[in-house]
Amino acid sequence: MSTESITETEKLDLDIPKFSKDSFGLGKKIYIETYGCQMNFSDSEIISSILKDAGMATTSQIETADVILFNTCSIRENAEQKIRNRLDQIKPQKKRNPGLLVGVLGCMAERLKSKLLEEEKIVDLVAGPDSYRTLPQMFAEAEDGNKSVNVFLSREETYSDINPVRLSSNGVTAYVSIMRGCDNMCSFCVVPYTRGRERSRDLLTILKEIKDLHVDGFKEVTLLGQNVDSYKWENKESGSIVNFPQLLDACAQIHPEMRIRFSTSHPKDITDEVLHIIKKHENICNHIHLPAQSGSTKILEKMTRTYTREWYLERIKSIKNILGDTCGISTDIISGFCSETQEDHEETLSLMREVQFNAAYMFSYSERPGTPAAKKYIDDVSELTKKQRLAEIMALQNEISLARNKKEIGRECLMLVEGTSKKSELHLSGKISENKVVIIPAFQFKKGDYVKVRITDCTAGTLFGEVI
Ligand code: SAH
Ligand code: SF4
Ligand code: F3S
Repeated sequence: MSTESITETEKLDLDIPKFSKDSFGLGKKIYIETYGCQMNFSDSEIISSILKDAGMATTSQIETADVILFNTCSIRENAEQKIRNRLDQIKPQKKRNPGLLVGVLGCMAERLKSKLLEEEKIVDLVAGPDSYRTLPQMFAEAEDGNKSVNVFLSREETYSDINPVRLSSNGVTAYVSIMRGCDNMCSFCVVPYTRGRERSRDLLTILKEIKDLHVDGFKEVTLLGQNVDSYKWENKESGSIVNFPQLLDACAQIHPEMRIRFSTSHPKDITDEVLHIIKKHENICNHIHLPAQSGSTKILEKMTRTYTREWYLERIKSIKNILGDTCGISTDIISGFCSETQEDHEETLSLMREVQFNAAYMFSYSERPGTPAAKKYIDDVSELTKKQRLAEIMALQNEISLARNKKEIGRECLMLVEGTSKKSELHLSGKISENKVVIIPAFQFKKGDYVKVRITDCTAGTLFGEVI
């Protein structure tokens, strides 16, 4: 999953709201800023829906908001630092308007709990990822001057009945959360502590959400979970168990023009059965995000990723055998994990050369308090070495992305138009199945259209096409 971007919510219409008596005032304006992974963006849409049902409206105007919410990320130290800086920046607004409520939501709220209230005096409420149904009550309490904390982690909550309010939407692509939490214990990772135990959402509500999106004109959904391959839902009525390949199969059948993507797959869990389902359906995108983290078996073991370099490469072989060499494969890499030597680093570079990833999210290791790695290992690779290795990893990926994109020149493919190109009003931007961005001249097309294109040129990050 991509992390650490930011968006603002958009203005929503205030149609006749259901107002609950013990909640915060009718018509209050809520501003939400979202950080972190796609899961957090999806959560902000759930939060907006809960607040709308309680009579509030979200606004894109921070200056006139009654409540400012930060939906936060803890994945690396700098993600938390960003939030602390944002809290400092809004201090003058709080001074001018003491009635303004400030809430910290999401992973940082869960990690720091009430400590956050002590450390950041400006904060009025702290709400973890499983507590969002209680936000209206929390606002009411905070309005009465009682700072409020709810960081209870649930084993059941999947917000399955909530119909998310699509924020900053292009009207074409949407996220659909299929599970929450994570039961893996990758030693570097804070997510199991901030998101709790893994639980899968009711299949029928997932299918309903996708059908509704189709009716509303959406053309692509991305199924979200920290480890989608371990999706498992029991139909209480029939007693049958639905696994991820079955879920994918069912989603693909909703409509042939509704594209299905998913993220994230774990190398230990992705099966050939999943790959065959992708192959079976034209509308399941030919793209797999398969975080490798490292190319060294020794480091993977210390990371508790539970696979070896050989296992990872075998999975890649299966993907290429079943889905073909053009299948888009992207990854996540961490540089400078505890005890990583120059040889380990070179193994990561050689893995990247061998796989030829389309794209990669690349990070330098950031120790997170309370994680197994923080408890067991010394963060012994210097910041300078981490940065140098990261720079090498990034430079190599850039080379590989460019080489892979060059291979696309001349290919004919189907792109889904997502909107006008950021750089030119006269061009449209969209994606092909392999998750690569394509720019084409606008002509008579509009967002939501499927367009057959021939790739004519590229950079490392973008393809350029002509309509055929
Ligand atoms: N569930 C997904 C990823 C979640 S976090 C998975 O299993 O792949 C997204 C990415 O952030 C991870 O893949 C990892 O590359 C990176 N990451 C997680 N913890 C980190 C840490 N402590 N320091 C640096 N990068 C980290
Ligand atoms: Fe973190 Fe590992 Fe779970 Fe991904 S699978 S969220 S990296 S613990
Ligand atoms: Fe996502 Fe960051 Fe939490 S990556 S799960 S928002 S720690």
